[in-house]
Amino acid sequence: MVLLGLPVAVLAFLATTLNAVEIVVHSQGGNETSRIPFGLMHEDINNAGDGGIYAELIRNRAFQGSKQYPVSLSSWTPINGAILSIKNLSTPLSAALPSSMNVATSSTVSKSVGFANAGFWGIDVRKQKYKGSFYVRGSYKGSFKASLQSALTNETFGSIKVESKARKNEWVQHQFILVPEKDAPSSNNTFAVTFDPAGVTGGSLDFNLISLFPPTYKNRENGLRPDIAEAFAALNPKFLRFPGGNALEGPNLANPWKWNETIGPLKDRPGRPGVWGYQTSDGLGLVEYLHWCNDMGLEPILAIWSGLALDGAYINETDLAPWVEDALNEIEFVRGDASTPYGQLRASLGYPEPWELKFIEVGNEDWLAGAPSGYKSYTTYRFEAFKNAIEEKYPDMHIIASPSVFDNMTIPAPAAGDYHPYRQPNDYYAEFDKFDNLTPDNLTLVGEFAAVHPNGGIDWAGQLHPFPWWIGGVGEAVFMISTERNGDRILGATYAPILRNMNRWQWSVCMIEFEADVKKTTLSTSYHIFQLISTHPITHNLPTTPSTNTSSLFFVAGKNEDTGSQIFKVANYNTTDHQPTPVSLKFEGLQKGATAGLTLLTSDAGPFGYNDPAKGNNVVVTTTKTLSMGDNGTFDFMMPELSVAVVDIGIPGHDHSN
Ligand SMILES: *[C@@H]1O[C@H](CO)[C@@H](O)[C@H](O)[C@H]1NC(C)=O
Ligand SMILES: *[C@@H]1O[C@H](CO)[C@@H](O)[C@H](O)[C@H]1NC(C)=O
Ligand SMILES: *[C@@H]1O[C@H](CO)[C@@H](O)[C@H](O)[C@H]1NC(C)=O
Ligand SMILES: *[C@@H]1O[C@H](CO)[C@@H](O)[C@H](O)[C@H]1NC(C)=O
Ligand SMILES: *[C@@H]1O[C@H](CO)[C@@H](O)[C@H](O)[C@H]1NC(C)=O
Ligand SMILES: *[C@@H]1O[C@H](CO)[C@@H](O)[C@H](O)[C@H]1NC(C)=O
Ligand SMILES: *[C@@H]1O[C@H](CO)[C@@H](O)[C@H](O)[C@H]1NC(C)=O
Ligand SMILES: *[C@@H]1O[C@H](CO)[C@@H](O)[C@H](O)[C@H]1NC(C)=O
Ligand SMILES: *[C@@H]1O[C@H](CO)[C@@H](O)[C@H](O)[C@H]1NC(C)=O
Ligand SMILES: *[C@@H]1O[C@H](CO)[C@@H](O)[C@H](O)[C@H]1NC(C)=O
Ligand SMILES: *[C@@H]1O[C@H](CO)[C@@H](O)[C@H](O)[C@H]1NC(C)=O
Repeated sequence: MVLLGLPVAVLAFLATTLNAVEIVVHSQGGNETSRIPFGLMHEDINNAGDGGIYAELIRNRAFQGSKQYPVSLSSWTPINGAILSIKNLSTPLSAALPSSMNVATSSTVSKSVGFANAGFWGIDVRKQKYKGSFYVRGSYKGSFKASLQSALTNETFGSIKVESKARKNEWVQHQFILVPEKDAPSSNNTFAVTFDPAGVTGGSLDFNLISLFPPTYKNRENGLRPDIAEAFAALNPKFLRFPGGNALEGPNLANPWKWNETIGPLKDRPGRPGVWGYQTSDGLGLVEYLHWCNDMGLEPILAIWSGLALDGAYINETDLAPWVEDALNEIEFVRGDASTPYGQLRASLGYPEPWELKFIEVGNEDWLAGAPSGYKSYTTYRFEAFKNAIEEKYPDMHIIASPSVFDNMTIPAPAAGDYHPYRQPNDYYAEFDKFDNLTPDNLTLVGEFAAVHPNGGIDWAGQLHPFPWWIGGVGEAVFMISTERNGDRILGATYAPILRNMNRWQWSVCMIEFEADVKKTTLSTSYHIFQLISTHPITHNLPTTPSTNTSSLFFVAGKNEDTGSQIFKVANYNTTDHQPTPVSLKFEGLQKGATAGLTLLTSDAGPFGYNDPAKGNNVVVTTTKTLSMGDNGTFDFMMPELSVAVVDIGIPGHDHSN
């Protein structure tokens, strides 16, 4: 038998030469912990939204643009000599979508003409149901052909005839279902629409809002990409912080994230210039985030715009009132009943039932952009104005300030703060005690965290690691354990950013890497570690007494009052001479003969190993085993250097997996 790659003889030798760390988990004491210990955070970065978790396959589907990112034909190519151009017609599809694509042709062309879209760096084509639609303006008798084809060989994998309902001077929507006859060998595919020029009167047709969706997560209309959504659901997350991040702030005061421009039919969403170098469609809008929460069982943590833009500009005190009103309107849209003005707006869009909303965050990182004066405006009047108005109208709402007590803000209880420690792994190790002195009045959300810099003193201006890497993840485990030890004062914690499209990204360290090809979706080392810790939730932590304080072992113990299980989570950082650490764990009051499930994560590629999307490798080794209680009442196991483990004592007779 081989355990953790070490022959039994070596283990026996180690067991006799190393003293075990004996840890007693007491059955009494401790505190109730937050019910939302770990969650997700959405930020429009790395094409995490459009071309990411938002399942739309057509890029630049509605020719949206801005001063920063002008309207263009990017991603579109003509077929058989059609002439494509952007037009701002005097009768646009909608006020929100003023630009459209004109497709001109000559009626003497004998072949069908049209256009193709390259998708978000390709399109995943499989034998499944694609739902498509497009708007056409112009006179056309005949039919359109919608097809999915190879960008490499032009092979058609599936196509469908769409009878024309097009009319002169009118925008008419055409809808279709396309089921390819075969799976494409790669994702280097395009979506094409073609038509017969002979049927066109007037020499051209105008097109807009050309959309194609694969099946979505839980079959939501306008929904989420299933493989990515399912990977997130498998983390057992408990909350979603949205819509950002810097994306909430917007690039300047003219372009914050405007909730009321992200709702309703897609043709009424103008989109906006994002803060990460591209225009965003806002197809993933306020209602879609709330559906995401419903479908994954997540507590929404809705961030409202607090009057600060990413360029550091902020709203003066005398001009703030309309923005406070706007935030109240947004909250009313979400949770007001259908008799209120904004509740009525929601109902008119097809959602008569209010959503539950208990957490509001006021702004994002208000301590950063525009500091010091921008920050001063937050601590002197912006935070208070939003907080007072929201508390007055919604006394049960939990308010979260965007800075934390660690950003030198005194946050008036019961409001919480938000702390964003992006760190070197050694920092998490050194700061393990950071939360221990928080008082019950210092409730803190960790709205973003991640090990981003390699050890060695490279500061914030320095480079990010190219991918999440093993020792970074072990540092994160130490950090996550430090939050759960203080689970009565740490509201919850979430890794950020969570997604990275490998074809265009701005931030390298993310939980999941992906591209159009679903086979390339890569779960990082940090994903696996987060998953282990998050899928064994504690509802009440328990005091522990270790026999010695090692400098490497970090742990938390607790019970889950919902399942009746007792749980011990442990991370081992650098050890003396790289030796494994024997652990002898005793749960006070546990009956003789009990068993426990051990899940241990190690790396087979050392501290610097990482999961590389180009290789499709996984350096994380997961070892599971059932531990039997020894004669002296302990569970004994070995923690190798740089490992993370969970010991779970389920209800007797039940299995130990979550
Ligand atoms: C319980 O909370 C108090 C303060 O809120 C803290 O001092 C104590 O260490 C906590 N106990 C455990 C087991 O976390
Ligand atoms: C067309 O409309 C877009 C907005 O969609 C605008 O940015 C652009 O300047 C307009 N172009 C012209 C030629 O008016
Ligand atoms: C698709 O193939 C073409 C032709 O080889 C290439 O230029 C393009 O980069 C490929 N696109 C993607 C997304 O792989
Ligand atoms: C695919 O079709 C395009 C557009 O009609 C054409 O330009 C290209 O040469 C074709 N490629 C192949 C490999 O046939
Ligand atoms: C959204 O709200 C803002 C501020 O209240 C308002 O100026 C704007 O007209 C609204 N936009 C839409 C599309 O309703
Ligand atoms: C805030 O007030 C100052 C001083 O009156 C003024 O210069 C500045 O333009 C104002 N800022 C905004 C965003 O209106
Ligand atoms: C908080 O204060 C410390 C010490 O004065 C300083 O180093 C740090 O930059 C401050 N943080 C913020 C966000 O202002
Ligand atoms: C914690 O809360 C107390 C009481 O509200 C406050 O005095 C203190 O400044 C807060 N911050 C820290 C870091 O303890
Ligand atoms: C471990 O460290 C804690 C905190 O410094 C201390 O209270 C405790 O006595 C130490 N335990 C042992 C066994 O040294
Ligand atoms: C832990 O070991 C790594 C190398 O594996 C090193 O970079 C790091 O500085 C060490 N940290 C501590 C706190 O010793
Ligand atoms: C319990 O027994 C194991 C061997 O079975 C030993 O390694 C461990 O130190 C003992 N623990 C205690 C608390 O006596």
